[in-house]
Amino acid sequence: MAAELSASLMCARLDRLGEEVVALDRAGVDSFHIDVMDGHFVPNLALTADIVAAVRPLSRLPFQAHLMVEDPAAYLEPLAQAGCDVFIFHAEATPYPRRLMSQIAKHGMRAGVALNPATPVAVLESVADVPFVQIMSVEPGFAGQDWITTSPDRVRAARAICGPDASILVDGHIDRTTAPLLADAGADVFVCGTSSLFRGGHDTAAYASALSAMRECLAATTTGRAA
Ligand code: DX5
Ligand code: ZN
Repeated sequence: MAAELSASLMCARLDRLGEEVVALDRAGVDSFHIDVMDGHFVPNLALTADIVAAVRPLSRLPFQAHLMVEDPAAYLEPLAQAGCDVFIFHAEATPYPRRLMSQIAKHGMRAGVALNPATPVAVLESVADVPFVQIMSVEPGFAGQDWITTSPDRVRAARAICGPDASILVDGHIDRTTAPLLADAGADVFVCGTSSLFRGGHDTAAYASALSAMRECLAATTTGRAA
């Protein structure tokens, strides 16, 4: 499977988010990564269902919500109504992941399970059939953080548990150095934030060249299906 590049909208120009979505779509991103925070699971706030609903009409690309919240079930209805396609909750936020997975499906979205860096990858064993797995390569809650060097090993372990059909996202300090390491470990969806996509100009041309640089560095890797 080719590498999927997902633009982390919390890193875009929030004073003109609609124009950013259009420019990123035109530049060739594959999907949008939408961070939702409650100020409790992480000490920060980010995007909301109302913001998702406002920009939904501007792109037909998949919206993948990343729920850094203590009660992910509370956000199912608003994010489904707003037009999210994927609902990625943190394993640390619920003792009943499979119940939440079926609620996500009932809301017409695809499920994902995200793991904080301190959470053993073995927790995926009880949800090995989940369509999306997200391995955090930074502590959640903020953009622009340093990369956690054990992340490729964690991706490799996740791929071994979830098999070749799962999409494995990596989120946090993804750039032209870290992305190939993660791709060779089995990642196939790369959340692009301040380290790769939002580093300079905020227009289609700047985004298109950042994306092609990322695709170039990933072209030589065994993206997504490393043994
Ligand atoms: C952090 C978010 C990430 C963040 C990535 O909690 O989940 O999506 O936007 O930003 P960078 O790429 O700057 O680490
Ligand atoms: Zn995220």
